[in-house]
Amino acid sequence: MIKPKHILSLQDFTEDELEDLLTFAAQLKIERSNIDRNKLLVGKTIAMIFSKASTRTRVSFQAGIYELGGNSLFLDHNDLQLGRGESMSDTAKVLNRYIHAVVIRTHKHESLVEYAQHSTIPVINALTDKFHPCQLLADLLTIKVNSGRLEGIKVAYLGDGASNMAYSWAVAAKLAGIELRIGAPSRFQPDLSFTESLSGKGVVIVTDDPHQAVKDVDYIYTDVWVSMGFESEVEEREKLLMPYQVNNQIVKSASSGVKIMHCLPAKRGQEITSDVLDGPRSIIWDEAENRLHVQKAVLAKLVAD
Ligand code: CP
Ligand code: NVA
Repeated sequence: MIKPKHILSLQDFTEDELEDLLTFAAQLKIERSNIDRNKLLVGKTIAMIFSKASTRTRVSFQAGIYELGGNSLFLDHNDLQLGRGESMSDTAKVLNRYIHAVVIRTHKHESLVEYAQHSTIPVINALTDKFHPCQLLADLLTIKVNSGRLEGIKVAYLGDGASNMAYSWAVAAKLAGIELRIGAPSRFQPDLSFTESLSGKGVVIVTDDPHQAVKDVDYIYTDVWVSMGFESEVEEREKLLMPYQVNNQIVKSASSGVKIMHCLPAKRGQEITSDVLDGPRSIIWDEAENRLHVQKAVLAKLVAD
C-alpha cells in the first residue's frame, strides 16, 4: 500500500514543511478575493466525517474546499454505517475507492490512527481527544502575522493543561521554537513523559502559578475548561480551574503588549471574561478566520496534483 501523507498531529510536519505551509496559507489569505485563482482541487472530493459538534472546523473546511474548486461531503458519523458499528478500517478501505482525502473529527485519537493505517488517501485530523493540529496551524499563522516570527515568542496557556489543545500547543512550541508556559493545577497538567519526549528547539514549562506563567509573555491562550467528552467532570473542572481564568487581573500580570488568543468556542465568564475576549488585546476573530486559510493550504499541499 502506498502511504499517503496524513496530518494526525503537528508531529507529522518538519520545521521546513511548517514554514512552507504557513507561507502558502498567508499567500492564499491575500489572494482570497481573486476567485479565479488557486482552483487547485477541481475534480477532487473530500469527505468530512464528524462525530462531535463543530462550527469553525466544519464551515471553514467546507468553504475552503469550495473556494479551491473541490467537492466536500459532510458525513455525520451517525448517518454512516460507522454509527451502527462498521469499523474505521473497513470504512477507510471503501472510501479509498471513491474520494481523494478525508477530514475526521472523532473522540479517540486511536480511532483516527486506525483509520489512517488503512487509508491510501490523505487523512486530516479535525480534532480528537489528543490533538487539534488544524487549530494550531491557524494559531501559528496568527502569531506569525502579528509578530513577524515564531522563534523566541513566549506563549502562556492557561486552564486545562491536559487537553487536546494543550498537547497540540506543546508539539507546536517545540517545533516552532516557541517558549510555552502551561499554567494549570496539578490535576490538569500534561503528561511530562510526553512533553519531554518531544523534539525541537522550543521549550515547554509547566507551572501551577498562573501569574508566573504569564509574566513577560507575548500571547495568553486559553480554551474551554470542559472539552467535548468530559462533561461529567464539569463541577471539578470549574472549581479547580477558576484561578486560571483569563481576566483583566491576569492580563495585567503579563507584558503591556500581550495579545489574547482562544481557539473557540468560548464559555464567557469561565475560562475567559467577556471584557478580555472582546477587548483591544484580543486577536481571537483573526485567529478564527485563519482556520480557513491554513486548511486550504493543507488540502492544496496534500491533495492537489
Ligand atoms: N476551534 C474549533 O475547532 O471550533 P469548532 O469546534 O467550532 O470547529
Ligand atoms: N478542547 C476543546 C476544543 C474545541 C475546539 C474540545 O475538545 O472540546
